[in-house]
Amino acid sequence: MKNIAVYPGSFDPVTNGHLDIIKRASRVFEKVYVAILVNSAKSPMFTEEERADMIRRSVAAMGLKNVEVHIFSGLLVDFISQKGANVIVKGLRAVSDFEYEFQMALMNHKLLREVETMFMMTSNKYSYLSSSIVKEVAKYGGNLSGLVPDDLIDEITKRAMQKK
Ligand code: PNS
Repeated sequence: MKNIAVYPGSFDPVTNGHLDIIKRASRVFEKVYVAILVNSAKSPMFTEEERADMIRRSVAAMGLKNVEVHIFSGLLVDFISQKGANVIVKGLRAVSDFEYEFQMALMNHKLLREVETMFMMTSNKYSYLSSSIVKEVAKYGGNLSGLVPDDLIDEITKRAMQKK
C-alpha cells in the first residue's frame, strides 16, 4: 500500500518551520500534497495563489520532487478523498498546539474513518516559529532571516508593512 500524505494549513505565509515538516514528510511518504485550506478563524494577509506560489518556489528550491501544492476551499477530508491520500501530517510545536490539533484529528477521523493524523515534532530551532509571529516581526521591519526562505523576505516584509 502506498502512503500518501496531505500536509494542510493556512501557510500565511509559509515559514522555515513548515518547510522543515514538508522536507521530512517527503522522506517518509511516497507523495506529499501540501493543501492550502481556509481556516475560518483567520483573515489572511496573502491570497491563496500568493501563498501557493511562495510554497511552490521554496519546494522547488529544495529539490523535493514528490511534493505538490494545491489550493482547496472545502473540507480537508474531501481533499484527502479526492487525492486518494491516507495520512494527514501536522507539525506539533508545544503543548499549546495539542488541544486544537487533538480536536481536529478526532473530527477528521470521524468524518473519514480511513484517514490517520500523524504528528511530527517541530525541530527545536523552529519551535517558537509561527506565521503570525513572522507577520508581527515583518510589520515593524524586523529581521526575518532564518525564519522564512531568504527569497521571500522582501515580499513578506513589504506586504506586512503595507497592512500595518
Ligand atoms: O495552519 P492552520 O490555520 O492551523 O490550519 C488549519 C486548517 C486550514 C488545516 C483547518 O482550518 C482546516 O482543515 N480547514 C479546512 C476546513 C475543514 O476541514 N475543517 C474541519 C477540520 S476539523
